[in-house]
Amino acid sequence: NKVLVLHGPNLNLLGTRQPEIYGSETLNDINNALYEKAAMNGWDVTCRQSNHEGELIDAIHAARVDGTAAIIINPAAYTHTSVAILDALNAFDGMVIEVHLSNVHKRESFRHHSYVSLRADGVIAGLGSQGYQAALDALIRGARQP
Ligand code: DQA
Repeated sequence: NKVLVLHGPNLNLLGTRQPEIYGSETLNDINNALYEKAAMNGWDVTCRQSNHEGELIDAIHAARVDGTAAIIINPAAYTHTSVAILDALNAFDGMVIEVHLSNVHKRESFRHHSYVSLRADGVIAGLGSQGYQAALDALIRGARQP
């Protein structure tokens, strides 16, 4: 029950970045809520953010070999561009849940396609920070790869 939460580029600006789209909570608020839920359930959650594609890929590689059972990932703009993150996730055997704060499907058409969705076992979009909580809840309740 080890989970890696990965946040992609610009998500370090949450709270001040387009709050009308992404909400007023900061990344720390989101992570703290996840740490709290994990602690209450005896789960081991690690949250990381990077603005660099390669660092996100390195974190996914590390998760392959350190006993991580699941990755919750908001790849942010890399969702729509990164074959490299898709390839890294394809090399990871555990559960992958893709989360977006906003409903990407009611935004610009370039946000409608996700490379990561070709690998994700589950996708949550449009529920704001609750999407991360829902993803972790699903894992705690035993969601498995179909
Ligand atoms: C996002 C949606 C992406 O299209 C955008 O590039 C982001 C955030 C979201 O959480 O809604 O940076 O992943």
